[in-house]
Parts: sequence; C-alpha cells; structure tokens
Amino acid sequence: MGTKIYDCISRIAERIIDNKDYLTDLDREIGDADHGVNMARGFQAVLEKVPPDNANIGEVLKKTGMTLLSTVGGASGPLYGTAFMEAGKAVAGKESLDAGDVPVILNAVIGGIQKRGKAVRGEKTMLDALIPALESFTEKMTASSDVFEAMDAACAAARDGVAFTRTIRATKGRASYLGDRSIGHQDPGATSATLIMEAVRDFLRG
Ligand SMILES: Nc1ncnc2c1ncn2[C@@H]1O[C@H](COP(=O)(O)OP(=O)(O)OP(=O)(O)O)[C@@H](O)[C@H]1O
Ligand SMILES: [Mg+2]
Repeated sequence: MGTKIYDCISRIAERIIDNKDYLTDLDREIGDADHGVNMARGFQAVLEKVPPDNANIGEVLKKTGMTLLSTVGGASGPLYGTAFMEAGKAVAGKESLDAGDVPVILNAVIGGIQKRGKAVRGEKTMLDALIPALESFTEKMTASSDVFEAMDAACAAARDGVAFTRTIRATKGRASYLGDRSIGHQDPGATSATLIMEAVRDFLRG
C-alpha cells in the first residue's frame, strides 16, 4: 500500500466521478440533488491538488481532506474532509501501510464523522455503511487473517448498510426534513462511503 497512496486516492476519485449522476439522483429523492456533483467536484480538485509523488501517507491523506473540505461543500464536504484528515493523523509519518492499519484508519474516519456530524448509527448517514464495514473487517480478519477476504467482508457489510438505510428514517441532515417520507430511499452518503470502500478494495486487489 505504501508509496502508492496517491494511486489509491485517485482510484477513489475516479469511482466517485464515475458515479456522479447516480449519487446526485439518490440525493434528488431525499435531498437537494447535489451529492454527486459536490463529491465529483471535490475529488476532481483532489486529483489536481494532491501531489502524486509524496510518500508520506499522513500528509497525502491530510491534503486530500483539506481539499475536500474546501471544495465539496454541503454537509458531506466537512464530513469527508474531517474523515480524511483524521485518517491522516492516525497514520502520521508512515510510508507504508499493512492490514493492521485498515481498522485504525476506519476507526479514525468514523470518529471524525461522528465528531463533526454528531450522528450515531441508525440515522441514515454514511455511518450506517462505515460502522458495519469496520465490524465485519475486524471479524473476518480475526477469523481468516486474510486482508482481501476482510476487505470483501467490509464492502459486503457496507452494501448491506446501504440497503438498511432504505428502511429507516433520516434524523440528520437535509433528508431529516422529510421525516417518515425519507423511508424507502437509499442514503446518498452511505452510498458514496461504500463506493469509496469498494474503490480501496479494488485498488488493494490490483
Ligand atoms: N450530521 C451528519 N452526520 C453524518 N452524515 C451526515 C450528516 N448530515 C448529512 N450526512 C450525510 O451527508 C449526505 C448528504 O450530503 P450532501 O453533500 O448532499 O449535503 P447536503 O445535505 O446537500 O448539505 P446542505 O444541506 O448543507 O446543502 C447524506 O446522505 C448523509 O449521508
Ligand atoms: Mg445534498
């Protein structure tokens, strides 16, 4: 994973940009139809502003977070910005990562989003994908010690979390204005969080 951190970030950026319309359509149902546009703009800026040759993983993640914070906007800009900056802090100074760093990063991401958004699991946000992903990663890693299997389990749990967001009412963010009418719709933020997890999984697989 080490010196290829920029490659991993750019895989994430590509995945988000490719899914711009999909994410925006989801946000049209329960929000203001800007999640995909916001995220694609932010990750386009990341591709342009983050230096490709910096091997310091913490710095690359921090720069990614700062760029998202200043370019995504909406609710998700500060949330993803904080998430990437906290991830950077959690692995500060490292020039390579291993399987043990995955839960450390996910924990930092979740902690950052919770701190910033004051949400908990079950409020129809990105946390409903990320918290189950961390749990499944840890469970599978303990059982099999295979990082690829653990990442697959994490992504499957994130997808299940996205499906679960259809069944619950939003109590945070713009979608909460809809109250019970938010039920039946998939959360855009949980979906983008899952796309990011899947991009990392696919990157690790090579
Ligand atoms: N307090 C929160 N904590 C965690 N996630 C949140 C919170 N509020 C919103 N979200 C996530 O952000 C996503 C919406 O992001 P988006 O970029 O569309 O922002 P927005 O709601 O349009 O922001 P604004 O209302 O400020 O314009 C939601 O689908 C949800 O997953
Ligand atoms: Mg929106």
